[in-house]
Amino acid sequence: MQTRVSESVKPITPEEFIPGGIEIKNLEVSYGKNAVIKGIDIVFPPGKVTAIIGPSGCGKTTLLRCLNRLSELTPGCRVKGQILLDGENILNMDPMLLRRKVGMVFQRANPFPKSIKENILYGVKAIKLKCDHDSTVRTCLEKAALWEEVRRRLNESAFALSIGQQQRLCIARTLAISPEVILLDEPAAALDPVSTGILEESILAMKGEYTQIIVTHNMNEAKKISDYIAFLYNGKLLEFGETEKIFDSPEQEMTQQYISGKVY
Ligand SMILES: Nc1ncnc2c1ncn2[C@@H]1O[C@H](COP(=O)(O)OP(=O)(O)OP(=O)(O)O)[C@@H](O)[C@H]1O
Ligand SMILES: [Mg+2]
Repeated sequence: MQTRVSESVKPITPEEFIPGGIEIKNLEVSYGKNAVIKGIDIVFPPGKVTAIIGPSGCGKTTLLRCLNRLSELTPGCRVKGQILLDGENILNMDPMLLRRKVGMVFQRANPFPKSIKENILYGVKAIKLKCDHDSTVRTCLEKAALWEEVRRRLNESAFALSIGQQQRLCIARTLAISPEVILLDEPAAALDPVSTGILEESILAMKGEYTQIIVTHNMNEAKKISDYIAFLYNGKLLEFGETEKIFDSPEQEMTQQYISGKVY
């Protein structure tokens, strides 16, 4: 896949290339005989935030889990089609290598039973990534908007943090191994409004540096933080477009109804 900084017709120079573009072609996913994703094509632009929205059970989490091949850890889950990361089919990649490039943050914060610092360095140490540990810890915590709150507590247990702080720690942990893509599955679902606001600010601040794909049920959040919206309905992509366009004048009546809270 060609990933471009702009839509210009000039050939892309190496300086213009932004990694982390994902293109899905004719994706079908089933659990046993139950088809859940029914032939989806989407391009997730690199460096942008795309929000996946849609009613409960329409396949948002399933789609997200395909993008770093967590799907194949679910017994009975079958994936067909192509998912290209920077033009390379991820289904042919080493899953561990893929998950270094495509990190994931889940609905419930899941820090490891280790110190704040060791949580962040966990992946770095596991893959023996050469880097300055202290500056990696600081940079990742700053990007996740957590540094000021924990700078004097780095050796405390991650469980001593609030749930909102734990969720930001999980984002910082994901950043430590320099992914290209960050998948976020309803990351603010369990957070209070203040923590949600801080998390959204950090997502906004990471634009341009990472491709972010976020599942959310919160339309205000989708409007505030995303560049693009993918509206899934019953395993199909009903509409994809720029966030402003989707909210101002969606093409599908169903999209209009969903974003205005009339379809659940
Ligand atoms: N491990 C599984 N085994 C069997 N079926 C599953 C499994 N996980 C999900 N499903 C089914 O796949 C469909 C899509 O589920 P998925 O979790 O992707 O939906 P979702 O859009 O993320 O929903 P929500 O908004 O409630 O999180 C649902 O019908 C669900 O019951
Ligand atoms: Mg889900």
